[in-house]
Amino acid sequence: MNSEALHTGSDLVLDGEVGLDPSKDDDARRAFRDALGQFCTGVTTITTVSQTGEHIGITASSFNSLSLDPPLILWSIAETTPSFDCFSKGEPFVVNVLAADQEGLAMKFAQSATDKFDGVSTQLGLRGIPIIDGCVAYLECEVDARHSGGDHDIIVGRVHRVFNLRKAPLLFHGGAFHSLIGRNA
Ligand SMILES: Cc1cc2nc3c(=O)[nH]c(=O)nc-3n(C[C@H](O)[C@H](O)[C@H](O)COP(=O)(O)O)c2cc1C
Repeated sequence: MNSEALHTGSDLVLDGEVGLDPSKDDDARRAFRDALGQFCTGVTTITTVSQTGEHIGITASSFNSLSLDPPLILWSIAETTPSFDCFSKGEPFVVNVLAADQEGLAMKFAQSATDKFDGVSTQLGLRGIPIIDGCVAYLECEVDARHSGGDHDIIVGRVHRVFNLRKAPLLFHGGAFHSLIGRNA
């Protein structure tokens, strides 16, 4: 059903806010992004190694749990991202769940650059994938499946090994980083 068919003709207003169709115009697209930004997430850096042996790292907040048995996770990658082709079925990658004091790393790995790993302390995990020191948790995975989803692909990862360091995580909400440190639980 297209979105035209979904509309009944009457505009719905909730607490003074008019509902908008995200495909309508630039303002509605902005409203869509802002509404998505209301969903609070953690922040991860996904690391892998390219076919040519180069270390790859991408900051991603689209990470989520998928299945406990089998152990599966998911995240999505934009088709415009240079490392888009680095996550084929069977390829290994690591989800580094960033800690509250790793905002700088989140920003470093959110930019396209060849020297992203300069000055970043790492160890090598399963199949030589870099693991970033100081994170909250790590999930060592291999790509189980990849699905097209509009301008992103959904990467499903099969988890082979986990580490939980039980630290305060970095949070992302409303386009800004936050931390739970100093707040009442
Ligand atoms: C908080 C935050 C979350 C992000 N989440 C994602 C994401 O889930 N998927 C994605 O493709 N890009 C995401 N990005 C953008 C990528 O990190 C950015 O495009 C990065 O340059 C990709 O690395 P590359 O250019 O080396 O491929 C996010 C950026 C930030 C700051």
